[in-house]
Amino acid sequence: MDRIVIHGGKPLKGEVRVSGSKNATLPIMVSALLAETPSIIKNVPKLRDIDTMAHLLRYVGAEVEQKGDTLIIDPRGFERWKAPYDMVRKMRASIYVLGPMIARLHRAQVAMPGGCVIGHRPIDIHLRGIQALGAKVSMEYGDVVATAQELKGAEVSLEGPYGSSVGATCNMMMAAALAKGTTVLRSAACEPEVVDLANFLNAMNARITGAGTPTITIEGVDSLQGTSYNVIPDRIEAGTFLTAVAITRGDAIVRGCRAEHLEAVITKLREIGVSLEILDDGIRVFVQGELRPVSIRTMPYPGFPTDMQAQFTALLSLVKGESIVKETVFPERFMHCAELRRMQADISVSAGSAIIRGVEKLRGAYVMASDLRASASLVVAGLAAEGKTEILRVYHIDRGYERIEEKLQQLGADIYRYDPAKMHKKNSASK
Ligand code: EPZ
Repeated sequence: MDRIVIHGGKPLKGEVRVSGSKNATLPIMVSALLAETPSIIKNVPKLRDIDTMAHLLRYVGAEVEQKGDTLIIDPRGFERWKAPYDMVRKMRASIYVLGPMIARLHRAQVAMPGGCVIGHRPIDIHLRGIQALGAKVSMEYGDVVATAQELKGAEVSLEGPYGSSVGATCNMMMAAALAKGTTVLRSAACEPEVVDLANFLNAMNARITGAGTPTITIEGVDSLQGTSYNVIPDRIEAGTFLTAVAITRGDAIVRGCRAEHLEAVITKLREIGVSLEILDDGIRVFVQGELRPVSIRTMPYPGFPTDMQAQFTALLSLVKGESIVKETVFPERFMHCAELRRMQADISVSAGSAIIRGVEKLRGAYVMASDLRASASLVVAGLAAEGKTEILRVYHIDRGYERIEEKLQQLGADIYRYDPAKMHKKNSASK
């Protein structure tokens, strides 16, 4: 299994380009199943989660062809209404197939995703939504089974215990696009990835208005046609690079990102004392002088993203004074803190908050990646730590960051990847 090794302490300099958004591409790929003809999706990042989704789409009968950063999805063979546990357990976003299955095949059997390392992740809002459109839902051997001869538009609230749900909003837009009549989604998620999905669906002739606001209206249509579409840039990858440059006190340009998708992140970085210049095609980030501790509260968009919490926790561990990070979206999402402590960060976690007392130095260590953003935070910390950091289980990072070590090398980082098993074989062979 690959590991990433970083010799920290070098200020990052130069330019890096962000890839297309993982969390926008995943629902867009699935919604290509709603059409009667093929779609071409461009600016798709090369990631494990995208491969997993392509595998699932092929399993249900679609043809998926990948050429560089372009995917061609032909939905004409889509006829299988089952998504087995073996596929769903690898990636929770597999639950997105529920919407297109019930809308086009009138039946769906999707394994219930289990818990995951960032906490309890139920799907009750998704199910409440499709039931409101007229589907009958039951549970069989751990699978969600849904049937509906015809979906009918309805008014549905997507409010959950921690705000709205991105996944349920996407699933409902897909299901309602082909329902009879009008659907109104209240307390809908406002994330840019939701807007991107709505734009893609509209390009396929859906009739969706209000995406990006808490009320989305969908006028059902009889059929959708494939289209050609460019996915938005990944705001979380961009935010991760901004944090990485800031923690190393570097000076670099993150190209291809959209500042308007990063407002909460930019505001917090400025509050910390990081300098940012918004350019036509990106953001310049640099540090002059002392950084200051802050309080952060994660919230649904346009609030501070939970997917940036771990990277900011790493950054704040080197900022003098006491910072507080409250996680309100996934209150148990603090697995990275124990690993950051191995690097001599001073962090305590209680009741959904991390209290971070800035230290003078982080020191390199062996650390274990537990999930995607937790592993990103270990990379961010490793870039600034004294000495060598070796990150195990980096397959987590490959789920969401395209060629992260190459991109960071472009910024001058001393980072590489290796597989100890292969090194061992090579050494044994040369004996
Ligand atoms: C999406 O997950 C993202 N994943 C996550 O990114 C991101 O952290 C999350 O939104 C929040 O922004 C993808 O887009 C593939 P939610 P999703 O439904 O849709 C609760 C990453 O690192 N909830 O918006 O699964 C839920 O438990 C990943 O890239 C219910 O209670 O998240 C959470 O507390 C990790 N019932 C809150 O809502 C439901 O039916 C928000 O979850 C659904 C969700």
